[in-house]
Amino acid sequence: MDPAATIESTPTARVKMEVFGCQMNVVDAELVLGRFKGLNYGETDRYEDADVVVFNTCSVRGHAEDKVFSRLGALRPWKKERPGRVVAVMGCMAQREATDIRRRMPHVDVVAGTRDFPKLAGLVDRVRGGEGPFLVIDGEERPDIERSPTSRPRPFQAYVTIMRGCNRPCTYCIVPTVRGREISRPVDEIVDEVKGLVDDGVIEVCLLGQTVNAYDGQDRGRTTLGTLLRALDRVDGLRRLRFVTSHPSEFNDDTWAAMAESSKLDRFLHMPIQSGSDRMLKAMRRGYTVDKYRRIVDRVREVLPDMGIGCDWIVGFPGETEEDHEASLRICEEIGFSQSFVFKYSPRPGTKAAEEHADDVPTDVKKRRNRELLAVQERVSLAAHRATVGETMQVLFEAKSRLDDSKWSGRNPQHRIVVAADERIRPGTIADVRIEDATALTLFGDVVALR
Ligand code: 5AD
Ligand code: SF4
Repeated sequence: MDPAATIESTPTARVKMEVFGCQMNVVDAELVLGRFKGLNYGETDRYEDADVVVFNTCSVRGHAEDKVFSRLGALRPWKKERPGRVVAVMGCMAQREATDIRRRMPHVDVVAGTRDFPKLAGLVDRVRGGEGPFLVIDGEERPDIERSPTSRPRPFQAYVTIMRGCNRPCTYCIVPTVRGREISRPVDEIVDEVKGLVDDGVIEVCLLGQTVNAYDGQDRGRTTLGTLLRALDRVDGLRRLRFVTSHPSEFNDDTWAAMAESSKLDRFLHMPIQSGSDRMLKAMRRGYTVDKYRRIVDRVREVLPDMGIGCDWIVGFPGETEEDHEASLRICEEIGFSQSFVFKYSPRPGTKAAEEHADDVPTDVKKRRNRELLAVQERVSLAAHRATVGETMQVLFEAKSRLDDSKWSGRNPQHRIVVAADERIRPGTIADVRIEDATALTLFGDVVALR
């Protein structure tokens, strides 16, 4: 018998959840698992033990969607093996391709869109009772997004969704289509949720939104992300606070001021530039030039000099030349990003870029540009990491190191990975660590004091 089965109180069925895409999908998956728990369903990691499989999907690139279709196809024999097994799909792809999923994959029983996923567990339960199939993609504006505090990746860390949707016009992006217009949660509701999490042992919170710094608490004009940061700064017991993802054009003075004042804010800002070429930025309708981005970075560093800045890039956007690409390599080096995620452009049906331009950069060129950008980032990271040797920094330890389980892995305030060995370390321990060695990905150090 699988050990999990002995711990749970005889659940009626077991759910295997598979998450694709961004952090928000991870949170939504937890919310759904919480709902399943409420219906006395258990969770399992193994398909063979599962009665229900849920895919929480992503549409941001074609590759992510292809993978889900092939994985759904592979579930046919799984479903045949035991009658009554249920397959459910939620997330961005469920929203975008609901009818296609049902047509190509008739063994899928439930499709629930980006505003309907709170209903998913109930619908699965009804399928098990003989009803269905169900396809729901026209949910109300404001999904019911309260969370079940019992399901978190780690007991001391939590992701809190503070807004959904996106009002920006980026020409390559499917998110506004699948996630709809921006909608923020009110400040009080978020503060209450965070207080509840802290009472439950959470010390680090990451606030989530597609354009998180456009947060307006449903009170545009008076409330900003800064209002929320100040309110959360007053929550006793909360030690660390982060927010992702920021759009360079959505900051305001109040948010800058609140960031500077905050006693809990991590020194890490994820603020994608996407390209280092003004021509590309214009075609992408990002709403800034390279020079304006530079000035925003200057402002960040004026407010918080030790801020690490993380970045996303798209290589091979239609019409991208070698010159455009070289401009990206240069700005990556110049800004000195602490982290880069690089994506090969993938035309998304229905977006302006896909409608108006051919996907004209060949795959092998995209691959090379991807490699070259990552190589610059690696060099930048290595130099920045080496420069920290000898420094002492605060680290929140998360788990045993994946490469060596006599060591622990954690994050410093810049969100860089720090590895150390000390028998006093537990998951959630905060310690001062002196850095002794570094690679492009990891800092290695010794604990000098526990906090
Ligand atoms: N093709 C490639 N990458 C994309 N992204 C968003 N849309 C696309 C697309 N059509 C990238 C952007 C974004 C990240 C989450 O995914 O870099 O910041
Ligand atoms: Fe993917 Fe974007 Fe949807 Fe997240 S919001 S799952 S990144 S398409």
